[in-house]
Amino acid sequence: MKRPAIGIFGAGWVGVVTGACFAELGHEVVVRDIVSERIEALQAGRIPFHEPGLAELLERNRERMSFTLDAADLAPTGLMFVCVGTPPTYSGDADLSAVWNVVEQLPEQEERSLLVMKSTVPVGTGEKVRESLDSRGLAHVGYVSNPEFLAEGSAVKDFMRPDRVVVGAFAGADGETVAALYEPLEAPIVRTDVASAEMIKLAANAFLMTRISFINEIANVCEATGADVVKVAEGIGLDHRLGPHFLRAGIGWGGSCFPKDGVALKQLASNSGYHFQLLNAVIEVNELQKRRVIGKLEKHLGKLRGKTIALLGLAFKPNTDDLREAPSLVLASRLLAEGAEVRAWDPVADARHLLQGVTFCESALEAVTGADAAVIVTEWDELRSLASAEARDAMASPVLVDGRNLLDPEEARAAGFTYEGIGRAASPLAALPETEEREPQLEQ
Ligand code: UDX
Repeated sequence: MKRPAIGIFGAGWVGVVTGACFAELGHEVVVRDIVSERIEALQAGRIPFHEPGLAELLERNRERMSFTLDAADLAPTGLMFVCVGTPPTYSGDADLSAVWNVVEQLPEQEERSLLVMKSTVPVGTGEKVRESLDSRGLAHVGYVSNPEFLAEGSAVKDFMRPDRVVVGAFAGADGETVAALYEPLEAPIVRTDVASAEMIKLAANAFLMTRISFINEIANVCEATGADVVKVAEGIGLDHRLGPHFLRAGIGWGGSCFPKDGVALKQLASNSGYHFQLLNAVIEVNELQKRRVIGKLEKHLGKLRGKTIALLGLAFKPNTDDLREAPSLVLASRLLAEGAEVRAWDPVADARHLLQGVTFCESALEAVTGADAAVIVTEWDELRSLASAEARDAMASPVLVDGRNLLDPEEARAAGFTYEGIGRAASPLAALPETEEREPQLEQ
C-alpha cells in the first residue's frame, strides 16, 4: 500500500527526526524551514545538530526526503506536521509566533488536508487554530494534536519504539488518519480530544520533573542523615507502582523541554486562575540543586577565590551537544562570580560563545591538570575511568565532586580521591549527629 506523502514545517531537531522516521516508514517527506543555511546544509547531507542514528537514517532515505524554503512545496502532501519551536517569552508563556506563521502560510489545497501539531503548545491552542482556520474559510483543513515525546540522544528510538502515541482530534476521521500513520510501530495509541492531548504532553513532562526534584530532595536529606540515595532509589524503584525511571539524583535537569515546558504549564495554570503550588516547588528545587555543588566545593576548599575548578561535561545530558538551560552554565557562572578559575571539557558541546572567562580543554585529563577540584557535571561515558592514578597525580588536590553519581565511591576513594557524590554520605558515620556515651543504668 502506498503510504501518504508528509509535509513538515520546521527543520529543527523534532522536524528532522520526525521527517526521517516517517521516510523510514516509507513516506515521501518534504521538510520546510525559513532558515536558508539550515535547508542548504540538509540538502547537502549535513545535519546541524548531534543526534545518534539520525545521519544513517537520512542517508538511507535520501531518495524519499526533500528540503525546501517554499511552503507551497508542501501543497501536494495533504498531511502537514508542525514541528516549529515554541520558546518561552519573558513572561514564561510559550511563544507561539512560529506556530501562527505556519497557520498563515499554509499552502492552498483543494482537497481535505490535515494540520498536525507536534510542537509543545499550551492547552487551548488547537481550539484557537481551529477558529482561525474556520474564519479564513479553511474548514476543510482538519486539526490534530499529536505531541512528540522524543528525548535528545534517543530520539530515533523514541520515535520508532514509542511507549505510546497520543492523537487528539476534533473530528474522529482525522484522528483515524493520523493514528494509521503509526500502525507499523505497533504501539498503544491514545485517542482523545485536542485539549487533553495538549495536556498529556505538558503533564508527562511535569511529572518527570517532579520525580527528579523529589529524588534530589531525598538525596539532600540522605546527605544530612547518612543514607545513600542510589540504594534508596533502587529500593523505591522496585515497587511496581513507582517504577525505576527518573530517580537518578544529580545536579538538576536542563535541556530544551523541561525548563521551558515546566514554566509554560505553570503560567498556563496561573493565567487560568490556578496557582500550581507543587510545580512551583519542583522548579525551585531544581534551581537550588544546580547550586549545591558550590557548597560542596567550599566544604573542601574553603573560599573559592583563586581556586581552579575543572568542570567535566557541559551538555545538559550525555549524547547530545545541547547546552540549553544546562546546569553547567549556572555552575560555571557561579564559580566565576566567586572568583574561581574555571577549566572545562565536553566531548561534543561547544560552550565558547556562552561562557566567557572559562578555559576550554581538549580532554578531561587536561582539564583536571593543576585543578584544586573536579566536578562531574554530565555523565559522559568517557568519565567512567576518571578515578585513575594519572588524574589524581595531575590535580593540585584530588577533590572530586560527582554531580551525577557516575563513579563508585569506594573505587574513587581507593584511588586516592576525596570523593563526594549527590546524596551519598561521605562515610556511613559522617552525617550522624554527635551523641554522648551514656553510662548504662543499673536496674533497681
Ligand atoms: C525530555 C523528555 O524525556 C521528552 O519526553 C520530552 O519530549 C522532552 O524532554 P530530554 O530533555 O531530551 O527529554 O531529556 P531527558 O533524558 O528526559 O532528561 C531531561 C533532564 O533530566 C536531563 O537534564 C537529565 O540529566 C535529567 N535527569 C533525567 C535527571 O536528573 N535524573 C533522572 O533520573 C533523569
